[in-house]
Amino acid sequence: MNTIHFHISKFRSALLDWFRQNKRLLPWRGQSHWYPVFLSEFLLQQTQVKQALPYYHNFIRAFPDIHLLAAASEEEILARWTGLGYYARARNLLKAAKDIVDRFNGNFPQNYYDALTLPGIGPYTAAAILSIAFNLPHAVVDGNVTRVLTRLIRFEQDIRIPSTRKTLEQLSEQLLDPAQPGDFNEAMMELGALLCKPRQPDCDHCPLLFACKAGKSENPGNYPIRSKLPEKRRLHHFVYLIEKENRLLLVRRPQNGLLGGMWEFPVSENGHYKPEHTILGELLHKEYGIHGRVRDISPQLQHVYSHLHLRFHAVVIADVKGRFKKGFYRDYVWKAVNEMSGRFLHSAHHKAWEWYKTTKS
Ligand code: ADE
Repeated sequence: MNTIHFHISKFRSALLDWFRQNKRLLPWRGQSHWYPVFLSEFLLQQTQVKQALPYYHNFIRAFPDIHLLAAASEEEILARWTGLGYYARARNLLKAAKDIVDRFNGNFPQNYYDALTLPGIGPYTAAAILSIAFNLPHAVVDGNVTRVLTRLIRFEQDIRIPSTRKTLEQLSEQLLDPAQPGDFNEAMMELGALLCKPRQPDCDHCPLLFACKAGKSENPGNYPIRSKLPEKRRLHHFVYLIEKENRLLLVRRPQNGLLGGMWEFPVSENGHYKPEHTILGELLHKEYGIHGRVRDISPQLQHVYSHLHLRFHAVVIADVKGRFKKGFYRDYVWKAVNEMSGRFLHSAHHKAWEWYKTTKS
């Protein structure tokens, strides 16, 4: 399909001129080593620049090179990742760092197919790192670039369909400036982030308006066309903050599955019950073999994941008796409350912890 209806050289120079004048100063830009780009691309998967920035500063300070990163423990990486979500990315970052050290002698592989063998590196991340850090001609298609491309050609197909993605990848390869692939890719992403936004794109200031079919239409914000996803699964939990002698019980999830390997408070799944004291006591005993007194119950709290919507009540249990059965969990510890910090917990249970602190004062 030949969809290009404008001069590619004019397109490239308009985009790159705009980028030179308008790009944000970001700490991984303009560096001579690939490591800042590698780190930033892991942090930026499914995350906006503004949200990723503090994490980038924290990681680059803690692990200034690939060898220090590869030597870190998974616990430390996960603790520093807390709040960013998608924790598989954090585990893959560590695995990829170890692989780069072990299999590639500490150098990022400059062959696209070798790069794809690294954990957590798919077509987007491989193309981004190779083009930005090594100036190799691989085009990227992320969410921002998808918006720019579908608007450019008024693309009427559903972008959730894999064959559609292929078409966009081919278009992006055609447009890529082979002389400056890194700048070209970053310019497309930057245009998507700053002007060609999901709602109300700023077409008046867009350097590509001359080439853009949607930009000249009534409503450029109608693109891309994306079918609706099924509704998120809903889950209801009780989250138990079990107190014993100024300690709280923390449990570690199994390595595989949602939030694998992360610490949290014990939970019971509960689709139906209201948080009533007798029922809570029974559930706690059934799941974990202990008895206790319900000291306090939080209002409903919630956390939204990419595929599920979790609603929960945090329940403080005091005067515990009996031996804790760890059930689904791999490990448990009684953590002193004064040594406890939200950084041990994933985001949903961080909210339970924040509420718990208000019950103590
Ligand atoms: N998103 C992912 N990588 C990016 C980059 N290098 N610049 C801007 N946004 C990005």
